[in-house]
Formats: sequence, structure tokens, C-alpha cells
Amino acid sequence: MSPDAASRTGTSLVLGIETSCDETAAALVAREASGKGRILSNVVRSQWEEHRAYGGVVPEIAARAHVECLDQIITEAMREAGAGFQDLSAVAATAGPGLNGGLVVGLVTGKAIALAHGLPFLAINHLEAHALTVGLTEGLAPPYLLLLVSGGHTQILFVEGVGRYRRLGTTIDDAIGEAFDKTAKLLGLGYPGGPAVERAALAGNPGRFDLPRPMLGRREAHFSFAGLKTALRHRAEAAAPLSEQTIADLCAAFEAAVSDQVADRVGRAMEMAEEGHPGRAPLRLVVAGGVAANRRLKATLEAVAAKRGYALHVPPPALCTDNGAMIAWAGAERLALGLTDPLDFSARPRWPLDPDAPPAIGAGVKA
Ligand code: KG4
Ligand code: ZN
Repeated sequence: MSPDAASRTGTSLVLGIETSCDETAAALVAREASGKGRILSNVVRSQWEEHRAYGGVVPEIAARAHVECLDQIITEAMREAGAGFQDLSAVAATAGPGLNGGLVVGLVTGKAIALAHGLPFLAINHLEAHALTVGLTEGLAPPYLLLLVSGGHTQILFVEGVGRYRRLGTTIDDAIGEAFDKTAKLLGLGYPGGPAVERAALAGNPGRFDLPRPMLGRREAHFSFAGLKTALRHRAEAAAPLSEQTIADLCAAFEAAVSDQVADRVGRAMEMAEEGHPGRAPLRLVVAGGVAANRRLKATLEAVAAKRGYALHVPPPALCTDNGAMIAWAGAERLALGLTDPLDFSARPRWPLDPDAPPAIGAGVKA
């Protein structure tokens, strides 16, 4: 359907802009009045090259890289979709959580387009966008449990509806992807670390090194990865100089420890969801975030889901990692409910989806 025809049939066309971390992304998504979504374009430019030398994301470099390429990315997204700004129903941009400099770049750009073309503006919570992606990819509607596992976030949420989230678990220290990245850095495997650790682990023996499984059996569905990282460093130091086989064994042990913890914590969250909603547990587990690409973790989650009678839904990798389509889709869903935002909406580097969730005890808790 052409964008022009779309506006005649009650379909909304939303431009989504994502700049909260190290991906500059823009996309155009159509949402039919029935609630069915379709991606018209989805352009993502990763900044890995800019950050590789530092072994992690440098906020100043990220913000500058967004400034340099966002206009081009948006132009590409519009061209690929065959649309002009006059065809849009609204503009959505990530307002948080994330790195302030990058958020400001995306917000200012999104607001300028909305203002210049007289369009509604939507300030999107990045976590909400991850949470709602399965509506776009599979037409899956809440309620469901969401496990969000990325470089910046590790959360389990009970998604009750658009704008209604209950946080069941979060990390009390590092994010899960951060733990993969730090492990890779420690073992000299490069950045981003997740895929490198996974590749090395394939040739490893997970039983050679005994790593801790913190948080197992705890009442709340929280996570912790800092102790695991320290234990791994001690094992690596004791085994130095590291042979290729030892690195593989350490990676395999790390993946096994992480997977055991995630399995336990997700199981606990399922119990919590069932306690809060007797007789109407969601029985659907959605996984999002870059770490969802990890095969060992996915196999573990398949086993947990099967054991407890849950269906497992994992969006395709390109929509699990940060992208503009998820922002556009969250925007379209909010637009359908009339939830637009004013143009003076400020960036929110910390923006929990569930403001009522009690703080998780631990150092450096992430929103
Ligand atoms: O969702 P994402 O693309 O970006 C955000 O952090 O928001 O996630 C990136 C994270 C990185 O920490 C990366 O190392 C990790 O996902 N990752 C993986 C794998 N692929 C990416 N971790 C484990 N195994 C993988 N195959
Ligand atoms: Zn993300």
C-alpha cells in the first residue's frame, strides 16, 4: 500500500528515531486500524567501529556520531519507504532511558520534523519499545512476560498492556550484555563481546571451571553479574598464560553460569506472575535485546518455557537489537490510544517502566 493510500484507510504511518546508545536508527512503520503492523523501512547504523578501540561505548563519541549521520539515516528510511514527511501520521523518538547526549540528538530532530510538518510527537521509552515489538512481528498482544537482555538492561517485566508494566526483576549491578562484553575484554576477544564469547565457548568445556551462580533461589527475580565477572577474572589469572583451549573453557563456563542464573530467575518471575494473577498467568515468554541471540541462552529459555507450559516468542535478531522500527511501532501503538507528547518533553536518561517497583538492593542499579 502506498503511504498516500494508507492515510485514506485509517492506517497510521509513523517515523521512529532511535539514538539512545550506540545505534543510530530510523524506520517507518504502518499500523492498520485493526492493530496489524508492517515495517516499510528500517535503517540501522551501528557505531561499533567508533567504540571498538575503547572496548565499550564512549558517550561523547556516541552523541557526535548520532549528530553526524542521523539526517542521512532518516532520509534513507523515508526514501526506502517511498514516503515524504507529508505522508506521516506522527513522529516518534526515543526519550530514554539511555545516554543523555544521544537522546537529545534524536529528540531534537524528531521534534523539529513534527513541528515543521504539523505532526503529533511521541516521546518513547526505549524499554517500552522492546516490550511491544512482538505486537509488530507476531501480532502478539499483552499480557505476557518479557525478558529483556541487552548491553544496558536486564529486566523481567509483566507486560499488562500498552503503558502498563510491572517489573518483576532487574540487575543489582551489571547488565547481562555488559558482563559478556567485560568477559570478552578480559580474555582479549574484542568488542562487542557477546558474539565473540559465544564463538569461543563452542569449543569449550563448561565443566572445567566452577563459576558462582549468584541470586539462585532468591525470592525476587533479580539478577547479579558482578561477582561472576570477578570470579572469572580470578580463574583467568590463576590459569595464565591463557591457551586458546583455556579461553574456550572459561567462555563455556561463563555461558553456563549465566544461563543457569537466567533460567532460575525467569522461573521465579513466572511464579511471581502466577501469584499476582491466580488462574490467568500469561503463559507467554517474550525475549528481547541483543543477548537473546545467544544460542545457549535460547536453548535454556526453551527448556524453562517448555517445563512450565509457556510459549516462547523471540523476535528476529534484527528486531531484538536496537532499531527504529520498534520505536515507530511503540509510537503507533501510543498514537492509537491518543497518548501524544508535548514538544517540550525532555530527555530522561533514567526512565523506569514501572516507577512503583521497589528499588533493587545492590550497587549501581540500572533503571
Ligand atoms: O540490544 P543490544 O543490541 O544493544 C543494547 O545494549 O541496547 O545488545 C547488545 C549486547 C552487547 O552487550 C552484546 O555483547 C550482546 O548484546 N550480544 C550477545 C550476543 N550478541 C550480542 N551476547 C551474547 N551472545 C551473543 N550471541
Ligand atoms: Zn535496547
